[in-house]
Amino acid sequence: MKPRLIVTRRWPAAVEALLAERFDTTLNTDDTPLSAAAMTSAFADFDAILATVSDRLPGVVFPESAARTRIIANFGVGFSHIDVAAARDRDIVVTNTPGVLTDCTADLALSLILAVARRTGEGERQLRAGEWRGWSPTHMAGAKVSGKTLGIVGMGRIGKATARRAHFGFGMKIVFFNRSPIDDDETRAMGAVQMPTLEDALAASDFVSLHCPGGAENRHLIDARSLRSMKRGAFLINTARGDVIDQDALIGALQRREIAGAGLDVFAEEPAVPEALKQLENVVLLPHLGSATEETRVAMGMKVVENLTAFFEGRPVPDRVA
Ligand code: 8YV
Repeated sequence: MKPRLIVTRRWPAAVEALLAERFDTTLNTDDTPLSAAAMTSAFADFDAILATVSDRLPGVVFPESAARTRIIANFGVGFSHIDVAAARDRDIVVTNTPGVLTDCTADLALSLILAVARRTGEGERQLRAGEWRGWSPTHMAGAKVSGKTLGIVGMGRIGKATARRAHFGFGMKIVFFNRSPIDDDETRAMGAVQMPTLEDALAASDFVSLHCPGGAENRHLIDARSLRSMKRGAFLINTARGDVIDQDALIGALQRREIAGAGLDVFAEEPAVPEALKQLENVVLLPHLGSATEETRVAMGMKVVENLTAFFEGRPVPDRVA
């Protein structure tokens, strides 16, 4: 008997085909996210749930006691949408997909830095609206990126990859805040300086890019107080998770021009984006595109297949997080 699994969203075709070959697979052909009730019944009907960031898996959707489900294989590196303690209590293994999305997420962080500083969204909106009056020496002058200081919050794989691009590509100086000390070849090669506190890292930076996990431990790490530590001309970039920023405090700081702008790929209540953010010209807003390339999405899916195959063959699971 092949293990029964449910894929909660549409996945790249090559991955769906491989899943269907190896497992008794239920696909979500119309790509509508599962309701909380459907998710709860999935625990009774399937050996594995293949989830994404668009699924909410708080403790309440888990069954009271033992479930049929033995593994939740997440498509994505961040897993703060899954209550891992609830999973552990029910002997459910949780896996993620680290590594394969590092480059593309770092690439997107750099595109947000460039877009918000060089006002490319604003410029494109102006041009498309037929409001461009032609070149002028003072037209849409933005902020220079090359040579500035980038502050990385969370110096993990994606934080380092973003810092590398910024330092070696754009000659940026790198400072970072990370809870545990990091002093390795990679950070030394960039001359990256670990700052003792978050506030120190914020105060030193022209651009701040967030790369820490979401969830309770980092909820509202960037709040009204930390926003006040940033330079008035600084930009905040978020490709991590929306809940790391107190979104209302950020809107206030942007409206009052306490910081220069923000580039956001993630939001507190995705896919809802506050109207007040959309009204601002000094922000670039993207619909959670961090890992969204054909190559990376296939690689993420293949990592899920590897995790599931190892699990059901009784081998050590490569990317187990709980
Ligand atoms: C994924 C992400 O696309 O991997 C992550 O944590 O934020 C995204 O790049 C998303 O999580 C898909 O589940």
